[in-house]
Amino acid sequence: MSNKVEDKVLDHDYDGIQEYDNPLPRWWLMLFYFGIVFAVAYIPYYHLGPGPLMAEEYAAEMESAAAAQKAHAAALAKAEAGQPKAPAVDYAAMAKDEGRLAKGKALFAERCAACHMADGGGSVGPNLTDKHWKNGRGDVPSIVKVIQKGVAGTAMVAWESQLSKDEIINVSLFVRSLQGTTPAVAKAPEGDLIED
Ligand code: HEC
Repeated sequence: MSNKVEDKVLDHDYDGIQEYDNPLPRWWLMLFYFGIVFAVAYIPYYHLGPGPLMAEEYAAEMESAAAAQKAHAAALAKAEAGQPKAPAVDYAAMAKDEGRLAKGKALFAERCAACHMADGGGSVGPNLTDKHWKNGRGDVPSIVKVIQKGVAGTAMVAWESQLSKDEIINVSLFVRSLQGTTPAVAKAPEGDLIED
């Protein structure tokens, strides 16, 4: 409708400058009126009435979050108290298990011997019969870890996707049992000398 308004020259004259009566665009006026209506509702409710201001809303939310956190921590502590601790894996006992060692040996011959030799003497991979280790401390947990995760950037890949947890434990126990044995051909020591 604004484009239908005819330009009317107002009858003021300021130092020879005249002006048109240009009405504001309707959309602008609508926004303006809306602003007034909004303020009439907003100010009494939030600033004079019961409506919570932003700072109060924030404080209330923080309070309920803190309460939720506390409840969650309490529930966790309760659940933990009721649950028996997972027993630590007893590698020492497992190392005496001939069945595990035999399975570990077979798996080693099949999957690992190409690089470490069946007797652990080493070729592409390090000698596993000596006390020198490039990764970890040469104890069963360290060996398990290096087999699971591999050594990035080397031929030693991560085996955790190819072997089950139990297979990895078995082959680790076997690797550990190679300590102090005498391989047919012993690769020169690599890594740090680690005494038990
Ligand atoms: C393709 C060759 C290859 C195969 C197959 C392989 N390894 Fe390795 N392995 C390596 C190399 C190379 C390293 C040395 C990585 C490094 O430089 O830290 C290594 C390192 C290791 C180490 C750590 C030695 C140390 O001194 O830190 C262990 C334990 C080991 N391998 C066990 C195994 C077992 C068990 C298997 C079979 C499931 C296997 N490897 C299969 C090449 C291989």
